[in-house]
Amino acid sequence: MISVIHGKKTSSIDKLKINEHYKKVIVDLGCGDGKQTYRFAFDHPENFYIGIDANFKGLEEVSRKARKKPVKGGLPNIIFIHGVAESLPQELDSLADEIQINFPWGSLLEGFINLDDDIWKNIRMVAKNGAALKVITTYDDKFEQDFREERSLPELSIKYFEGDFREKLLSYGVKINEVRIITEEEKSEISSPWGKKILSSRDRDVFVLNATIVK
Ligand SMILES: C[S@@+](CC[C@H](N)C(=O)[O-])C[C@H]1O[C@@H](n2cnc3c(N)ncnc32)[C@H](O)[C@@H]1O
Repeated sequence: MISVIHGKKTSSIDKLKINEHYKKVIVDLGCGDGKQTYRFAFDHPENFYIGIDANFKGLEEVSRKARKKPVKGGLPNIIFIHGVAESLPQELDSLADEIQINFPWGSLLEGFINLDDDIWKNIRMVAKNGAALKVITTYDDKFEQDFREERSLPELSIKYFEGDFREKLLSYGVKINEVRIITEEEKSEISSPWGKKILSSRDRDVFVLNATIVK
């Protein structure tokens, strides 16, 4: 069952009907307060957006707004779902043309970096054949060494992503096309609330990973 958030309430649905006229279905996994997902949906009415987060409280406000009348900020092309990456509902199978993960933290980050089988199987499950995976991630020993060590995370580097990580992702049908550290100019263009917050006060490397999911 899919747990759809609207304000303080959630409702369960067993099928997500997405109108075929949408060009792309884009899943934002770990969407936080959903404000960036909402902005994308507003700017791209041709696409349908699915924001998913483990913390449904953070999505109360934006999900309420998205369901209002269009003159009051309502959008027909977005839905917010309460879900954890480790156990996403099967009803999301093969829906996404694109999956975004922006600034993962907590178990999403841990599972992404340390290749948790459940999380990667679910990323693959949600994707259509040929879907794009776009991830922006950062943590840095200058600020988060304790956090990194507690979670047995490796130090982030291009070398890490290009090594066994790349090979193991292939076993999930995920082919990395590009991993790089973003430029200062790109950093200044980041619109994710969390990204803006941590980049405004701290100088750190931010990694972007672009991949294709083949099923
Ligand atoms: C640092 S915030 C980033 C939010 C947003 N993407 C942004 O860029 O502003 C990380 C988000 O991941 C969510 N999260 C952590 N573990 C998760 C999991 N296992 N499944 C789904 N969401 C998760 C948290 O609840 C949080 O909202």
